[in-house]
Amino acid sequence: MKALTGLRAWRSGKRALMSRGLETDLLLKNRALEATAEGIVITDASGKDNPIIYANAGFERLTGYTTAEVLGHNCRFLQGNDTDPETKEELKRAIRERRPCTVEILNYRKDGSRFWNRLSVTPILDDDGETTHFIGVQSDVTERRDAEAALRITKAELEAANEHIRFDLDTAARIQRALLPMSLPEPRGYRFAWHFLPSTQLAGDTLNVLWLGPDKVALYIADVSGHGVSAALLSVTLSRWLSTTPGQLSLLTADSASPTGYRISAPVEVVERLNQQFPFDARTGQYFTLIYGILSLSLREFRYVSAGHPPLVHLPLEGAARAVSTEGFPVGLVRTPGYEERVMQLSPGDRLMLVTDGLTEAANPAGEQFGEQRLLEAAETSRSHSLERQLDEIVESARCWCSCPGFDDDISLVGLEVLRAD
Ligand SMILES: Cc1cc2nc3c(=O)[nH]c(=O)nc-3n(C[C@H](O)[C@H](O)[C@H](O)COP(=O)(O)O)c2cc1C
Repeated sequence: MKALTGLRAWRSGKRALMSRGLETDLLLKNRALEATAEGIVITDASGKDNPIIYANAGFERLTGYTTAEVLGHNCRFLQGNDTDPETKEELKRAIRERRPCTVEILNYRKDGSRFWNRLSVTPILDDDGETTHFIGVQSDVTERRDAEAALRITKAELEAANEHIRFDLDTAARIQRALLPMSLPEPRGYRFAWHFLPSTQLAGDTLNVLWLGPDKVALYIADVSGHGVSAALLSVTLSRWLSTTPGQLSLLTADSASPTGYRISAPVEVVERLNQQFPFDARTGQYFTLIYGILSLSLREFRYVSAGHPPLVHLPLEGAARAVSTEGFPVGLVRTPGYEERVMQLSPGDRLMLVTDGLTEAANPAGEQFGEQRLLEAAETSRSHSLERQLDEIVESARCWCSCPGFDDDISLVGLEVLRAD
């Protein structure tokens, strides 16, 4: 009997201990729910319209409603006019199908202010796996959403600005292309060709072949330092200067003694004038190289000045291709460069090419440049082609050497061929 009483006392002591443990456990969980910054609600899944049976302090802070105000209500009172119907539908489906769901939904506080609610709804199951309740965890993600929206606006504005710049550059590129020779002079016994390949929309290179008079054709090729917009602006200015409209910088000089009212300016005169017109400006650091020459058709004589430009390529009918060295300072570097005219005598079957350094300096992935020697080889191996095709072939050889679709610098070539009598 004594032993029985002892057992009972032990059991009731254990029960008391257990219930105190459970109480402590529950208290702790309740404190944790109340302490969390997030809003937490529990709804009764079996109740009519899934009513709230618990809301923590975080929910009160987030929404401005007191727990007393929301108990017994469905959480949809947080929604308003601008709440996305699709998100509501997504929530509704998940709740109906008793599965967890996370959404970002626009909600309204008691004072009517809006906030973005990152809401996770999870079913709570009993021992039989039946959903008895739902727990909802709510976080205010308004700041992040606002930042994302601002970013989207900035991105759209940037895209619009980019589109505008692209349009401007395209237009400028079209204007630049329009300054290239549309049609070339076709004097008896001669042929001309050109190739122009900007590395970006706008090029710092420019070139032209122009009639100066019945026996004279002017050829030039120029390469402005750098490339892109500022280089293109100068190259466009240059092609306007190097025109046959008589004027201060033109290829023709006003001359009252001449029956036409002008005379053809000598190449050295033209380049000297350019150098005067274009003194070095440390702010822009721009300068340009140029070959300007006049071909005398009857004499088969090319009289030219080089201003720091890469060598000419001379491909005689019989002999090997050779690089004709050119000297002189680029235009815009020194005040008195002392340019000198040179004369090249041409024979039937000869070809002459003026190139920009974008071609010889085109580098392969190892950094090795196409160079003068490969340029000469390319000129020789393509000599059986027409002049136009030959220029294309030379550029193609450089492209193969680089093993890349585009070049880092603008590439331009002007070709001249003295046709054979046959
Ligand atoms: C536990 C729980 C918490 C919820 N919390 C929110 C909430 O914070 N904001 C909200 O817009 N909807 C909340 N909802 C969803 C709505 O109560 C409702 O289920 C939803 O709007 C889809 O149903 P309806 O189309 O009948 O309104 C919650 C739902 C549950 C079950």
